Amino acid sequence: TTAPLLAGVRLLLTAGPTREALDPVRFISNHSSGKMGYAIARAAREAGADVTLVSGPVALAAPQGVARVDVESALQMHQAVMNRVDECDLFIGCAAVADYRPAQVACQKIKKTGDNDQMVLTLVKNPDIIAEVGALPSKPFTVGFAAETVDVEQYALGKLQRKRLDMIAANDVSQSGQGFNADDNALTVFWQGGQATLPLADKLTLARHLVALIARHYRP
Ligand code: C5P
Repeated sequence: TTAPLLAGVRLLLTAGPTREALDPVRFISNHSSGKMGYAIARAAREAGADVTLVSGPVALAAPQGVARVDVESALQMHQAVMNRVDECDLFIGCAAVADYRPAQVACQKIKKTGDNDQMVLTLVKNPDIIAEVGALPSKPFTVGFAAETVDVEQYALGKLQRKRLDMIAANDVSQSGQGFNADDNALTVFWQGGQATLPLADKLTLARHLVALIARHYRP
């Protein structure tokens, strides 16, 4: 018998959306379902990895044998990752982290007023979690995602370089039936000097192929 592909590898994985509070009852978020990240967590566990899943709010149960850490905001996800990144060998950023958050979180519910037909929200940039992981002096093998609607390859390669990733998996979210919230997805994976296309499949099948591809390129 052969050892599973990722036997003994400690994987830290982010998944799902983040929620950026405006006041006690409102937030800004996105349509990420967490399905791709949870499928990767399951596939990596099947491949023998020791998996910690830092998850934004989703309607999914943690896969068997996966340690889940629940967070809501990008700042909380950032903190949860930074607290654990030194103890991982492989980092996969699958979360749809909000790029910006409201500059101020109101303590009380923001009221509608009779004299204002417009309201201006000031947003500030969130930390780029995966870019910080990529910049660590002893960084884990780092895999990112890119959801693009145009010029998929060009943007993915730009992110690979800028965020110092080892691999990036790009999906074209302009194609209907794949990507955000869909059950199926297709990915083009890029690394320094190579690429591979993983054709349209259900997210668990795709995750298993992606895990195999990562295992082939993984260097501790
Ligand atoms: O730049 P963009 O958001 O498209 O990059 C996507 C990749 O970066 C994903 O791997 C995502 O999880 C990660 N990311 C992050 N922190 C952010 C924004 C994106 O880790 N604040």
